[in-house]
Amino acid sequence: MQPASGKYSLLWGETPIQPLPRFAEKIGVKSCWIKRDDLTGFAFGGNKLRKLEYLLADALSQKCDLIITGGSPQSNHARLTAAAARRAGLDVWLCFAGNTLGQVQGNLLLDQLMDARLILTGVYGSEDLLTAMHEQAEAARREGYRPYVIPVGGSSPVGDYGYVKAWESCWQQVREEGLPSFDRIVLPVGSGGTIAGLWVGNQLNPAPARLTGISAWMEKDELEQEIYRLIRDLLPYVGLETADWTEGLPELHDDYIGRKYGVPSPDGNEAIRLLAQTEGIFTDPIYTGKALAGLIDIAAKQDCSEEHVLFWHTGGTPALFTHAASMT
Ligand SMILES: Cc1ncc(COP(=O)(O)O)c(C=O)c1O
Repeated sequence: MQPASGKYSLLWGETPIQPLPRFAEKIGVKSCWIKRDDLTGFAFGGNKLRKLEYLLADALSQKCDLIITGGSPQSNHARLTAAAARRAGLDVWLCFAGNTLGQVQGNLLLDQLMDARLILTGVYGSEDLLTAMHEQAEAARREGYRPYVIPVGGSSPVGDYGYVKAWESCWQQVREEGLPSFDRIVLPVGSGGTIAGLWVGNQLNPAPARLTGISAWMEKDELEQEIYRLIRDLLPYVGLETADWTEGLPELHDDYIGRKYGVPSPDGNEAIRLLAQTEGIFTDPIYTGKALAGLIDIAAKQDCSEEHVLFWHTGGTPALFTHAASMT
């Protein structure tokens, strides 16, 4: 089963799973692998493209001609939404949190190159941003548009379905390529849709891996509630009912956010350096670097020396350049 509107293809193909032998040795796990969703292949890549394949199809099936979404001015989701909209020939408005755009670098630079309309909403937080997006949608309708609103992070049942499918293809890859059956999968968590999708994927195609989410933004209690809501809303899309959901929630950690969302942390920056220096692979300071820092710490504290670990790289690398000052 999949959303009725189908899929608008944006990925170049299934992303590779690659070994990280030197990194694994440094952090003390049996083996470590990386799922390269930073290489989804379009507009600098990242996890949001998997959600956008279904969201764009939904917008097109409703004959919408304008996509409205939001986030911070350096949002990876906003950049990829703008690119997907342009590819489909649609207009795009980006509603940003706060009152200032900040420096024109990284994602914001790319948004400008795509001539997305940039709107400063003066509000913060997903709910207030969503309200602001709906207000913009009203204004757009008065201009004669048919707008389609995508919530912060692309996290909705339609979008999260992209990660239900990603779970399925990941385990298919494990089988076809003869990879070890991962004991643990670690990934960063923002709005929660990616991990919610993987978790529901696990309900459909159970695998032994322990899904471990590292929060980049919300504290654990709030995040659990949010993920609970996302999973519950997603279940009917895959033909399951809440009663079929027996496995609780994924393991979530909120100890690696650092000072706050959007600000690099010293441990995250160290982790970025370690992966770059052992494997030549780049992560970002807002999501994947902090998640790597979580993995390194968990591996040390929980003794994962017998575990095969998969780190799910969700992209975000354009933000690396925005934060150069904190990294050097
Ligand atoms: C690079 C990167 N990783 C992870 C995430 C988190 O994904 P989700 O919002 O689905 O939890 C985001 C969200 O914007 C992101 O940009």
